[in-house]
Amino acid sequence: MVYKSLLCKVAKIGFRVLGNLQRKPTESDSFWYYNPCFQYHARLLNRIGSTSIVVLSLPLELEAGEEEEGYVLTDASRLLLMNDSLSIRPLLLATLDPILTKPWHYVSAWFQNDDPTPFQTAHERPFWDYAAHEPQLNNFFNEAMASDARLVTSVLLKEGKGVFEGLNSLVDVGGGTGTLAKAIANAFPHLNCTVLDLPHMVAGLQGSKNLNYFAGDMFEAIPPADAILLKWILHDWSDEECVKILKRCREAIPSKENGGKVIIIDMIMMKNQGDYKSIETQLFFDMMMMILITGRERDENEWELEAFLGCWFQSLQDNSHFGFEVPH
Ligand SMILES: C[S@@+](CC[C@H](N)C(=O)[O-])C[C@H]1O[C@@H](n2cnc3c(N)ncnc32)[C@H](O)[C@@H]1O
Repeated sequence: MVYKSLLCKVAKIGFRVLGNLQRKPTESDSFWYYNPCFQYHARLLNRIGSTSIVVLSLPLELEAGEEEEGYVLTDASRLLLMNDSLSIRPLLLATLDPILTKPWHYVSAWFQNDDPTPFQTAHERPFWDYAAHEPQLNNFFNEAMASDARLVTSVLLKEGKGVFEGLNSLVDVGGGTGTLAKAIANAFPHLNCTVLDLPHMVAGLQGSKNLNYFAGDMFEAIPPADAILLKWILHDWSDEECVKILKRCREAIPSKENGGKVIIIDMIMMKNQGDYKSIETQLFFDMMMMILITGRERDENEWELEAFLGCWFQSLQDNSHFGFEVPH
């Protein structure tokens, strides 16, 4: 079997070449080689090889007496494969789209004006407004979020299933096109799931027996439920905006004694902990939140601040959180 395309069009330089990596049926899953006819590919692959996407393996004995130059995929590159259920390739493609890279060039202009974000300086309107009116951004952003949701779902339903047990109803606030809510609804057929998102996001989406879509604004009102799910929501917003969203959440759920809960899936910054790649990724996300929207990434102390989560919600110290690291 020949794999036609591993990762094309990812970045202007080099990643296109990964599309020409091929695999033979007799080989181990991780061994790929390039077609030597593409003379520039080797140079580009050598460049990528130093970024932990692929590692050059030279030479490798394929069968008795037969040796070939090739590349070994790293764990990180596996997240970029096409047609892989856990690929987050759309997320990477989204971050490299000109609509999202343009604002990075406007940071110094933004320092000199009163716009809330460099995105607004570059595109003359806020991110969510632009997404509502620009199908191109809306489409690739939704695909990006759906790919991330598939990856997170695979961990959540394996490691964190218990958090949904005993619930009768759940609202996935800002749940996008519903990838995560659909998986939860399938895993818990007696749990009524609602996806709340902006009207342009949920228009025309079909629910199922225990899943429905609700067009609304989370700053205005959230439909009542036993539990609220917030995945990649709070990091999109400033502290003041988060407090407003959390107030709407609290109004929507019963008291803690009566089973009400808010389930937050978001990033915890691990300052000075973990490996360099993880820290670099966290810092990059923090910059992205600042440049595109009004959000920020937070460390454990910031999440627990009395004025933020601490006053209403159970401490993070009780092992109620789990996570996974960026592979490298
Ligand atoms: C970063 S995405 C997260 C999507 C989804 N939770 C996920 O993780 O795949 C943020 C979502 O919030 C939605 N959103 C933004 N402003 C909103 C508002 N005022 N009310 C409801 N949803 C909103 C966006 O449309 C988008 O789907």
